[in-house]
Amino acid sequence: MSTYTAVAHTNIALIKYWGKKDPQLIIPYNSSLSLTLDQFYTKTTVTPATTDQFTLDAQPITGPGLTKMTAFLDILRAYAKTDQKLAVTSTNHVPTAAGLASSASGLAALTVAATAALGLNLPKQTLSRLARRGSGSACRSIYGGFVEWQKGQTDEDSYGVPLNPAETTDLDIAMIALVISDTAKTVSSRQGMANTVATSPFYPAFVQRCEADLTAIKAAIAAKDLQQVGEIAEANALKMHATMLAATPPFSYFLPETLQAIAAIQQLRTQGYLCYFTMDAGPNIKIICAASQSQRIAQALKKLLPKVAMVIAKPGPGAKLI
Ligand code: ADP
Ligand code: DP6
Ligand code: CO
Repeated sequence: MSTYTAVAHTNIALIKYWGKKDPQLIIPYNSSLSLTLDQFYTKTTVTPATTDQFTLDAQPITGPGLTKMTAFLDILRAYAKTDQKLAVTSTNHVPTAAGLASSASGLAALTVAATAALGLNLPKQTLSRLARRGSGSACRSIYGGFVEWQKGQTDEDSYGVPLNPAETTDLDIAMIALVISDTAKTVSSRQGMANTVATSPFYPAFVQRCEADLTAIKAAIAAKDLQQVGEIAEANALKMHATMLAATPPFSYFLPETLQAIAAIQQLRTQGYLCYFTMDAGPNIKIICAASQSQRIAQALKKLLPKVAMVIAKPGPGAKLI
């Protein structure tokens, strides 16, 4: 057992995961589909130690954050049949808990580095299953390119599968992240989706529509029809956000600037630009567009939204040891 470092990139879902059928094992109600991004990632180093320790972005983590880490490491230790404690040092090159998927890159990097530190050498499917136990979306960040999280029924058959075995895509696609706020959300994804599942009358309709949206978007990706991909993804995200407004108590991740950004995107569309948006559990918007047009679209958008930071991301790679 020795020290290992892993890098994992974030992924943004085009068909969303927003609810656990089995909260203990993190088995979702519906399958989802994402794109792994090259610009946002986590780097995590894991080393054998006498007690579990966690340092995130140079801050020692104690209390509930450390308890959560230990609970996840316990899952990995049970799998490895060892009680070896671990020291985890991680850096997010993505805002933490702001709806830019830090839990996806964070738990994927942790799974890859910690399983290696525990002496395991696992196939990607097993890494994806284990990462899922830490954060559902993390099972998709094990792979690059477009990734489907096949919901499955049990711990064994719920994992990410890359649409293309090479983990790349020949679709001309980029996502422009509009960083409206990088402060941590008040309602975590975990709490938000649990409240939605328990109380929103719109939730069953969302789950039902996700199945059709997933089939349709896979056909659109195969046909290299970016407009269809964008239309389906944008509508799917809005259906997810609608479930939250109908929850008890109602909640929302929209800020006024989020609505301004959406209006700007709609305005660019009337001018002939091909651009759509998606949005997760946070106020930040991700624009889906052709990589070849992303600079032009970002420039046009800068004029409408001069204060918003923009990052142009392209398809990124899967998680790996470095
Ligand atoms: P996000 O939108 O960023 O994914 P979530 O609410 O899903 O937000 O998850 C945020 C949580 O993910 C953090 O509170 C922390 O528990 C976990 N997390 C984020 N980054 C890391 C990391 N690098 N290593 C381990 N856990 C992380
Ligand atoms: C809106 O994977 O962060 O980004 O499994 O509780 O850790 P936990 O939640 P998480 O939820 C992601 C929700 C989403 C949609 C998606 O990524 O599919
Ligand atoms: Co998350």
